[in-house]
Amino acid sequence: MPHLIAPSVLAANFGQLDKDVEMLNHSTADWIHVDVMDGRFVPNISFGFPVLHAINKVAQKPLDVHLMIEHPELYIEQFRAGGASVITVHYEACPHLHRTVEQIKATGAQAGVALNPHTPVAFLSEIIQDLDVVCLMSVNPGFGGQKFIAHTYHKIKELKALIESKESGCLIEIDGGVNQDNAPLLLAAGADVLVAGSYVFNSQNPAQTILDLKQIKK
Ligand code: DX5
Ligand code: ZN
Repeated sequence: MPHLIAPSVLAANFGQLDKDVEMLNHSTADWIHVDVMDGRFVPNISFGFPVLHAINKVAQKPLDVHLMIEHPELYIEQFRAGGASVITVHYEACPHLHRTVEQIKATGAQAGVALNPHTPVAFLSEIIQDLDVVCLMSVNPGFGGQKFIAHTYHKIKELKALIESKESGCLIEIDGGVNQDNAPLLLAAGADVLVAGSYVFNSQNPAQTILDLKQIKK
């Protein structure tokens, strides 16, 4: 399968969000990554439902909603109604992860689980068959524009081995500090989906930057 590019609108210009989403519509982006932060699970607040609705009104690509919030189970149906195609919750925020994953799937959305940099891949061994996406955080969640944590390569390989051993079809998504330098190495290690925020939106030509990431050969 060709890899997917999921630009994060966290780095977009919120004063002209519709314009930036239009740009993504016309680009080679596959998904639109939407970062929701609650100021509790992570030390930052991004945005909630009104902004998601504004994005969904314009977006013509699947919305990949990354919930960096406590008690995500309280809001799954609302995020689905807001247009999410993929709903990703954090392992660290879900004591009843299996129940929450089933809840996501019951809405018709694809289910993702994100792991913080220090959380071992092996903690997913009993649930990997039920997941559509595993998101490996390659920065500590909460902010865009942080430095990529190189330990992620090793986690991708471990996750790939776990997925194969359990015959799971789930995708490996990498989130945080992705750029043109580390992207080829991430893909070579086994990544399927690359999230990129500041690298895309701070570039001179975001659509071209997305195309460059998309055209990397494995
Ligand atoms: C971090 C978010 C990321 C972030 C990525 O908490 O989950 O999706 O937007 O931004 P960059 O690509 O700038 O690291
Ligand atoms: Zn994210």
